[in-house]
Amino acid sequence: MSIRPSIVKQLGRRASLVPAAVAVALVLASCGGSSVSGGGDDDGGGGDEGAALDPVKIGLLVPLSGVYAALGEDMQQGFQLYLDENDGKLGGAEVEVVEADEGESPGTGVPAATRLVTQDQVDAVAGIVSSAVALGVKDLFVESKVPLVVANAGANDVTAGGSPYIWRSSFTNGGVAAALGAYVAEQVGDGSVYLISADYAAGAESTGGFKETFEAAGGTIAGEAFTPFGTTTDWQPYLQGIRASGASAVYTFYAGAEAVGFTTQYNQFGLKGEIPLYAAGFLTEGGVLEASGEAAVGIQNSLHYSDQIDSERNNAFVEAYVAAYDEVPTTYAVQAYDAAAALGLAIEAAGATDSESIAQGLSEVGEIDSPRGTFSFDENHDPVQPYYLREVQEVDGVLANVVLQELEQ
Ligand code: BEZ
Repeated sequence: MSIRPSIVKQLGRRASLVPAAVAVALVLASCGGSSVSGGGDDDGGGGDEGAALDPVKIGLLVPLSGVYAALGEDMQQGFQLYLDENDGKLGGAEVEVVEADEGESPGTGVPAATRLVTQDQVDAVAGIVSSAVALGVKDLFVESKVPLVVANAGANDVTAGGSPYIWRSSFTNGGVAAALGAYVAEQVGDGSVYLISADYAAGAESTGGFKETFEAAGGTIAGEAFTPFGTTTDWQPYLQGIRASGASAVYTFYAGAEAVGFTTQYNQFGLKGEIPLYAAGFLTEGGVLEASGEAAVGIQNSLHYSDQIDSERNNAFVEAYVAAYDEVPTTYAVQAYDAAAALGLAIEAAGATDSESIAQGLSEVGEIDSPRGTFSFDENHDPVQPYYLREVQEVDGVLANVVLQELEQ
């Protein structure tokens, strides 16, 4: 895989988001509850031709409201694109997608997940943006033995222990942040770094992951702040604290609407030209990049995907995504696309669509041919993947996360 030195695609700007209904795949006319393959057919388990697979019912649990709503729409689109590219099927099985709104906290996400499992009786679930929600529903999936493919939330404990029912097509919060620590330590030399993040599991783990590798590389911390999640609208007091600390750089974790608020105010407060800002790549990903605009230019960040990756696989994916949605894909879309791919491969491997068979099939998936590059699952069922150093640049009038290099891990 090579890395684009500049934006060569003019596919760039995000158009308005498609209505949620467009992203819903409803291929089934009937069916309820868990389904088991009719089996005994002739194609060796799962291909399209001649398979007698029962339909599969998939819960898609993503935020359709709250600070992460835009991420949820990206995930709907990514999941739907995989279905569209596969005749609306997963591993050869007809699919019914049942959507549920995760909202932005366990208060909404846990009941939504519970309804999918107990009421809708889905065979498997994909999605979940928030670490707090993922942590809140982990036991539900393990105890009910319904496989969950987490397509964003990065909390380490979600996959710790490698339950056969919990898989992740995204990242760990600590992993994204840790990839950046040694690089920033080198950039600041004798200077120090101020850490500021959203006050919940993802922000805490991102801060912790960064600190670990940054300090191991000789870095010094100037100060640390956590801002109330989902309710902070005025970062000025925190920005004053950053300036007063004498830090020579800042590391941060924010995503969704909070990423726009922080980045915009960092610029308005005059820190942009004064103290370089480093981040987990969610700060500048997708719709928030356009919303932050000029304020985001120059921010260096780490992530496992950029639409700028110049590989045959990614170019084809970007082209298909733009054709479908008139906007470039985000990391969130890719993670959901890959969650669908993992479920498809699992059903194909198992030759059946009931929960237990899908869980078993997930352990047989091997490598996934993702737009980010090929990845496999580790012993905790997290992706083994490279992380990239990206920088927001304006090329030909479009803001993008240009990939500068692969980060050492
Ligand atoms: C999380 O809660 O793990 C998360 C949310 C948004 C972006 C990245 C991580």
